Parts: sequence; structure tokens; C-alpha cells
Amino acid sequence: MIDPHGRPINYLRVSVTDRCDFRCVYCMSENMTFLPKADVLSLEEIDRLCSAFVGLGVKKLRLTGGEPLVRKNIMSLIRNLSRHLQTGQLDELTLTTNGSQLPKYSEELFDCGVRRINVSCDTLDPEQFAKITRWGNLQQVFNGVEAAKKAGLKVKINAVALKGSNETEFDNMIKWCGDNGFDLTLIETMPMGEISGDRNDQYLPLSIVRSRLRKNWTLTDIDYQTGGPARYMRIEETGQRLGFITPLTHNFCESCNRVRLTCTGTLYMCLGQDDSADLRSPLRKSADESALIEAINEAISRKPKGHDFIIDRRTSSPAVERHMSVTGG
Ligand code: GTP
Ligand code: 5AD
Ligand code: SF4
Repeated sequence: MIDPHGRPINYLRVSVTDRCDFRCVYCMSENMTFLPKADVLSLEEIDRLCSAFVGLGVKKLRLTGGEPLVRKNIMSLIRNLSRHLQTGQLDELTLTTNGSQLPKYSEELFDCGVRRINVSCDTLDPEQFAKITRWGNLQQVFNGVEAAKKAGLKVKINAVALKGSNETEFDNMIKWCGDNGFDLTLIETMPMGEISGDRNDQYLPLSIVRSRLRKNWTLTDIDYQTGGPARYMRIEETGQRLGFITPLTHNFCESCNRVRLTCTGTLYMCLGQDDSADLRSPLRKSADESALIEAINEAISRKPKGHDFIIDRRTSSPAVERHMSVTGG
């Protein structure tokens, strides 16, 4: 699939549930209304959709949420999708998780051919962690990454940079990641969905973080590309990579290779735009995939050039109405 701007689309991110066992302050409000179960695709339907995308040339599948591992029977979907790794049609099957369920699932994930996972963890301080995630328990996440490491999964830690909250934590996190062999990516908050509180108060530009980090660490530019939005540097002292995702201060849309599917079968062609395509109707209309494939191709032909994220200082309304948990980033 090639989009109208000449970009090959070979990466599908799939949100398998909008539910989560945490309530991170930048992602959700405390009382979220989740989708009625009847609107949510069955695991068999998600498999059909993913497989149609694989047939159209998608090489990388990333499962997201909400929290993907809280979906009931999620391992049966992952097991089934792993057949595309075996045939060589798919290069990578992976997930972005909050880590809480990794003690339970790490070994089976490895067994299904998953090799790298991204784990969200914004701080190593238990109290701070409880504040940021509202419902989360840091020890559970530590147990999770430990289990992942033991199972042979390569771990990348994602941390959202929050002003006045975890901004003093990054030296610690770099050291911890260095000791454990994890890469670390720092992320600026993106204005998605209504959250309680003001995003202007949370927003911390990574340019500031980077110059602070340079006091204690030698950061070297490297030419490492995952096709993702992160710009990577090497931390010479630890040998690990440090990524920066800065949608607000740096535009990386030129090389965008991805689209996102929600658990209701809606395809979003850009994280930072509201335009979408309904794939559930063509999926449910017929057991034959031709209408679905036509709908996918039509959607790709509408992929926008880039996002319009700004954190507007005059209004507190988000740039995009839906919460991050709808597409999982
Ligand atoms: P890869 O899938 O290997 O590229 O890793 P990743 O780091 O992009 O994925 P992950 O799910 O860990 O997401 C990390 C952060 O990147 C999240 O905050 C996502 O919302 C953000 N992100 C991922 N893709 C895009 C994108 O296309 N545009 C923007 N603005 N942010 C993105
Ligand atoms: N801005 C930036 N990153 C976010 N995430 C969730 N909500 C936001 C937001 N508003 C991050 C999570 C996870 C990844 C998928 O997206 O921490 O690491
Ligand atoms: Fe859950 Fe991830 Fe959102 Fe936190 S950021 S509430 S862990 S989906």
C-alpha cells in the first residue's frame, strides 16, 4: 500500500481494547466510559482484519490498548497472528503494554514469536507512580519487566515527560535502563481527549530535558531508525539508546509508515487527525474479504500528510477529541 504522499504503509497498530487497569493522568480521566462490549470486535474479527492488512503488505503488527493484555483470551489472538510470522509474511509481532500482566504472559509471548515489547513506565518512584497512573502499582510493573527479561523479550521503556512530576526522575531511569539493558524513549504529552486538569501544566518540552541530561550523560547522535517517530541518541556511559518523541516541537510525519485500527474496527490514518474509516461494516457484511480490501485501499488513499498537534495556550480543548486509549498511541 502506498499513500497519496508516496509513503509505503507497512505497519498496523491495533488497539484490542479501550480498557485499562491504570488511569494515567495524561491518557484518561478517572471516570472513563468505555465502549459497550457489543461494539467491540471479537478476537476472530480482529484476526480477520489484521490478516487482510498482512495480505496487503503490512510487515509489522503492534497490539496496543488501553492495555492489550487485559483483554480476555488475548493470547489466543496473539497465537493465531503468529502464523504470519511463520509464513514470513510478517516481520514483527509486538505490543505496547503497561507491564502489569507481563508476569503472567511473558513466556507465552516469547513462544508466539514476540521478541521486543514496549513497556510504559514514567517513574521509578512508587509514590510518584501511584500519582501518575492513579490505579497502578509500580512493583507489579517491576515484576513484569523482570519476567519479560527472563523470558528473553527485549524491553524498551516509554516515559511521558511531565512538568513538575517526573522531570527529576530521568537520570535515575537512564541508570536503571542501563543496568537492565533496556532502551528508553521519552515522549512529550500529546493533546488527545479530555482529561481532568490542564495540559499546559503537564507539557514539558524535551529540548529542555535533553539539555539537562547532557550535564550527566554523554549523548551522541546516532543514525538508528525504527520507522517510528523517535529520534535516537546513544548514552555513552550505559551503551543504551535514548529516544525522543517530540510531536509538538518536531515534525516527523514525512516518513510515517503506519495506520491505526481501534477495537471497534475504525481505522485512523493519522494519530493527530480525526478522519477515519469504518472497516467493521464491510467486515461483517460478508465472509469474503473483497469489500473489506476495497475499504482499506480507499482509506489509505485519504491518509493525511501530517498532524496538527498544538497545545493551545488559550483554550484547554484537546487537538484530537478521542483519548489516546482509543488507538493506543
Ligand atoms: P515503534 O512501533 O517500534 O516505532 O515504536 P514506538 O515507540 O513508536 O511505539 P510505542 O507504541 O511505544 O509508542 C511510543 C509513543 O510514540 C506513543 O506515545 C505513541 O503515541 C507515539 N507514536 C507512535 N506513532 C506515532 C505517530 O505516528 N505519530 C505521533 N505523533 N506519535 C506516535
Ligand atoms: N501523550 C503522549 N503519550 C501518551 N501515552 C498515552 N497518552 C499519551 C499522551 N497524551 C503513551 C503511553 C504509552 C504510549 C502508547 O503512549 O505512556 O507509552
Ligand atoms: Fe492505561 Fe497506557 Fe493509558 Fe496509562 S497510558 S491509562 S497504562 S492505556
